[in-house]
Amino acid sequence: MLEKLEVYESAQIDSAAIEALYLEAFPDENLVPLVQALLQNPVITVSLVGKISAQIVGHTIFTQCCVVGSSIKVVLLGPLAVAPDWKKQGIGSAIVRTGLRRMEVADVSLVCVLGDPAYYMRLGFIRESLVEPPFSLPTEWHDAWQSQYLGDTVTPCAGKLSVPPPWHKPALWLP
Ligand SMILES: CC(C)(COP(=O)(O)OP(=O)(O)OC[C@H]1O[C@@H](n2cnc3c(N)ncnc32)[C@H](O)[C@@H]1OP(=O)(O)O)[C@@H](O)C(=O)NCCC(=O)NCCS
Repeated sequence: MLEKLEVYESAQIDSAAIEALYLEAFPDENLVPLVQALLQNPVITVSLVGKISAQIVGHTIFTQCCVVGSSIKVVLLGPLAVAPDWKKQGIGSAIVRTGLRRMEVADVSLVCVLGDPAYYMRLGFIRESLVEPPFSLPTEWHDAWQSQYLGDTVTPCAGKLSVPPPWHKPALWLP
């Protein structure tokens, strides 16, 4: 089925299906306001959908951020959702990998993510300890703050990640 997956930038017409996807994928957490706000900011976000036979089965967003005191190009990956019926078929990984390639082409040096290390380590992410998350995380989440350098970036940067307003809600950074 993965061979039928097409990954590309979402269009305005996809918004309702993307919102429905998040309600389905995150039944205990309403990420729709975050996703709506990010989709309204196409200048600072890259929104990727995965479609199989014209049905949206997965989605993620890369948001342009900055590290305070550094000129490095950095993005935040997330949220990421795959429709429950389509899980464990490589769709989430394929969408993220496509996004990482696009970020590299766009000269992004660093991709940060807050998520389960068991999932993201397969995609090349490792624990980030020099770039601080915008809000302090509970101790049990420290391993969940991860990053990946792209291209030939050799010098790691340090500092606090500054995120745009849709990400300013502290609740998004808490369990
Ligand atoms: C997490 C999610 C995006 C993964 O999408 P997916 O398309 O099923 O993932 P893939 O098929 O690429 O990878 C599946 C593998 O990752 C593992 N995996 C899936 N979610 C995981 C998680 N949260 N933590 C650790 N491993 C996870 C699966 O067990 C599977 O392992 P296997 O290949 O050994 O069987 C999807 O399960 C989802 O939308 N979950 C609900 C929303 C969510 O939690 N999103 C945030 C991600 S931190």
